[in-house]
Amino acid sequence: MASDTKKRIDGSRNRGPDGESADTRLIVVAIDFGTTFSGYAFSIRSEFVRDPMSIKTIHWKGNKSGSYKIPTALLLEGTEVHSFGYAAELKYNELLEDEEDAGWHFFRHFKMELYEKDVDLKMTLEVDGGSTLAIDIFSDSLAHLKNHFLEEKRTTYPDILETDIHWVITVPAIWNDAAKQFMREAAIRAGIEDNHITLALEPEVASIYCKMLPLQRKTDESGFDIIAKFDVGHKYLIADLGGGTADMTVHQVGGDNKLHEIHRASGGDWGGMKVDQKFLEILSTLFGKDTLNNFKENARLEFFELKKAFHIWKTTIGTEVQSSRISIPGKFIEMIERSHTDSINEIVEKSVYKGKIKWKKTKLELGEKGIDLLFRETVDEIGNHIDEILSNSKCADVGMILLVGGFSQSPYVHRILSNRFIHLNVIVPPDPELSVLKGAVLYGHDPNIVTQRVCRRTYGIALHEEFIKGEHRDDKRVVIDGATLCKDIFHCICHP
Ligand SMILES: Nc1ncnc2c1ncn2[C@@H]1O[C@H](COP(=O)(O)OP(=O)(O)OP(=O)(O)O)[C@@H](O)[C@H]1O
Ligand SMILES: [Mg+2]
Repeated sequence: MASDTKKRIDGSRNRGPDGESADTRLIVVAIDFGTTFSGYAFSIRSEFVRDPMSIKTIHWKGNKSGSYKIPTALLLEGTEVHSFGYAAELKYNELLEDEEDAGWHFFRHFKMELYEKDVDLKMTLEVDGGSTLAIDIFSDSLAHLKNHFLEEKRTTYPDILETDIHWVITVPAIWNDAAKQFMREAAIRAGIEDNHITLALEPEVASIYCKMLPLQRKTDESGFDIIAKFDVGHKYLIADLGGGTADMTVHQVGGDNKLHEIHRASGGDWGGMKVDQKFLEILSTLFGKDTLNNFKENARLEFFELKKAFHIWKTTIGTEVQSSRISIPGKFIEMIERSHTDSINEIVEKSVYKGKIKWKKTKLELGEKGIDLLFRETVDEIGNHIDEILSNSKCADVGMILLVGGFSQSPYVHRILSNRFIHLNVIVPPDPELSVLKGAVLYGHDPNIVTQRVCRRTYGIALHEEFIKGEHRDDKRVVIDGATLCKDIFHCICHP
């Protein structure tokens, strides 16, 4: 990948060849390309100046209640893009129903392919026996979101030209540089000019949004208690709990009222998808890997619907409409019964899950212990990582943990983390699933809102020094022009 663009990876500004600055573009559109859900939001510069929080989001149709993000799902008919989002899910469902899915390729959750991988432009994604270049799948998906906005714009803002738009694309802060650069390349291939793109770090922009919200209790000049924006000096940990990753950083509001990064972003693959994977793992342990694979391959529609039903069920956990039972599709029940001599009830009772999971007619029943089985490991990983960050001396005075991202909407997740960090305020702000998107719009208008970041690397140069026996390594000893020197002495030119 071109190294000359590297310095722009973490979101520094781009200037057009004519010297035009991105800061002056009429409109900022941010795309949050998530592992499970994606969307965009935008604001007009003149509106931003008047009221920065006047950010427009799209209310997508497609599920019963509508939503601000759509599934990151791309459907190809052969090599041609058919649809994206709910439309892709619906069509794929119909194809499975009619058993007409041969030659169609349905891609989901592919953002995780860029996590901790040796990413390059030749990378491929395999699905339904087909193999497609990953860069095409990413750029086709971004193109869909971009074109959706351009289509909407034609009706509402016909005077805005494509050259008036600055695009902010969010990426996990914990991705390596190659993955971030891959995303920039995908955006370029989606038809966006390089100097109209800013990549923004997900937890960082979420923090920018939260800084604009009244979330801190304080006393005003008249002695009244109020909830207001963060004070100068306020230090908090922000965690973006998404579908694929949990991405965290620690920020402090500086004297300049800008954000200073106190601890560099870190995290892991502890997103909401881990809970879905755990569910499949439980089914596999209970009924056997072969039976589950048979169900997955030979009853694709029922398997697809079971995953969707589980997803909906998962979001009820910890709420007043929590149900402890998950329906198991008839075809799966038949397959289990065919491959086992024991009844399903006996299988469950003889398993390692005895006392945690029960079989009720055609449903699996999970009590509190069963729900712990699904969620606990992932939430504990998140908690352990937060602990690790807070043990850093620079983070000792962190007073608040902010949870954003879709997974933070789970009352279960909030309860476990609040109980664990009882001495801190663990807050889920309003619209946590939109914090990244709205923060990215704010960042597009004002990239200087973050004035200090912790270096991800220490840069230096190799020097020779006079060799001192006992202090320098013998294998580094060289003689140059009669002088005995030690080579490869690291001279730091940037401190983290
Ligand atoms: N109420 C809820 N309870 C439990 N999980 C939830 C709830 N709402 C959303 N989720 C989960 O949150 C995840 C989606 O969150 P989000 O939209 O922030 O992720 P993303 O942006 O797609 O992923 P990433 O940021 O990792 O790329 C999904 O795994 C979803 O199942
Ligand atoms: Mg996300």
